[in-house]
Amino acid sequence: MGPVTGPGPGPVTGDVLISLDGVEKVFDVRRRTGFLRRETREVRAVDSLTFTVPRGEIVGYIGPNGAGKSTTIKMLTGILTPSAGRIRVAGIDPSRERTRLARRIGVVFGQRTTLWWDLPLIDSYRLAHRMYRIPDARYRENLDRCVELLQLGELLDVPVRQLSLGQRMRGDIAAALLHDPEVLYLDEPTIGLDVVSKARVREFLRDLNAERGTTVLLTTHDLTDIEQLCRRVMVIDHGRLVYDGPLTGLHEVGESERTLVVDLERELPPIDLGDAARVVKVEGPRQWLAFPARGSAAPLVARIAAEYPLADLSVREPDIEAVIARMYAGRPGV
Ligand SMILES: Nc1ncnc2c1ncn2[C@@H]1O[C@H](COP(=O)(O)OP(=O)(O)O)[C@@H](O)[C@H]1O
Ligand SMILES: [Mg+2]
Repeated sequence: MGPVTGPGPGPVTGDVLISLDGVEKVFDVRRRTGFLRRETREVRAVDSLTFTVPRGEIVGYIGPNGAGKSTTIKMLTGILTPSAGRIRVAGIDPSRERTRLARRIGVVFGQRTTLWWDLPLIDSYRLAHRMYRIPDARYRENLDRCVELLQLGELLDVPVRQLSLGQRMRGDIAAALLHDPEVLYLDEPTIGLDVVSKARVREFLRDLNAERGTTVLLTTHDLTDIEQLCRRVMVIDHGRLVYDGPLTGLHEVGESERTLVVDLERELPPIDLGDAARVVKVEGPRQWLAFPARGSAAPLVARIAAEYPLADLSVREPDIEAVIARMYAGRPGV
């Protein structure tokens, strides 16, 4: 790939779209400690954070609750100003030129909608059309595409407050994309979604990235989101970057396990499946069995069903926190 000569149409690979250098965010939290007494405490939400994201990448941005993920995303949109360090997104300093940056980024906060609650979904899109001054043909093309791929057709005339969580999230993702952003920040976009909605959202993101070269920064607690979308993961903890690399590396650092939750018909001694799974907890007739995440649950289920009085059973996916916890266990002193 030769050097980039000026802005041209089409995706340009290899250039850095997002860069953070020594970024910090400190919040002053004031607390009442008694009558007329207050104490100010500093919370260092993000601490000496340095990384870059090249154009066209889908990066998973993961970490336990309170790690600083949302704070990072808010700084990358310009909603929050860093206490120290330097941020550039598409060459723009987000907190200085938030409005100019807004045309080039899309944001979805899973916990909060940007849609107009009382209005039909389509009205939010019409507003975005005017607000971002999207050329008519482009707007129509993008809207049609989102409506088709996110299956929004029957929802356009429905007031947002009547949509299910999964429908609303798809509506939010479309709203974030009508103006052709180069970067899409997704903060927990699959939280609370059912399996079908999750799959639909993932497929849409994969296509968007492949066809338009849209760069995606994805925060999620769902390891499957990461497995299916991201070759690169960054793990943040206590505001610091503690891992940056392929997901496979993360798995090696902390081999993940799935859990089989087994309800027996009565209380019994721990289920014995040899090396295939181990009982990690027993509570009355319910037993929890851990088994390697890469293995299949099917043979275990078959054995338990054949050898024990089985009443009910479910499989729990490894969550990000468990993987990270094991990552620490395997690497003391990180
Ligand atoms: N506006 C705020 N004022 C004070 N503290 C905040 C504020 N926003 C976030 N924090 C604190 O900063 C830390 C990181 O929060 P956040 O970025 O939301 O984490 P995450 O998204 O990874 O769960 C937490 O300790 C949180 O309580
Ligand atoms: Mg968050």
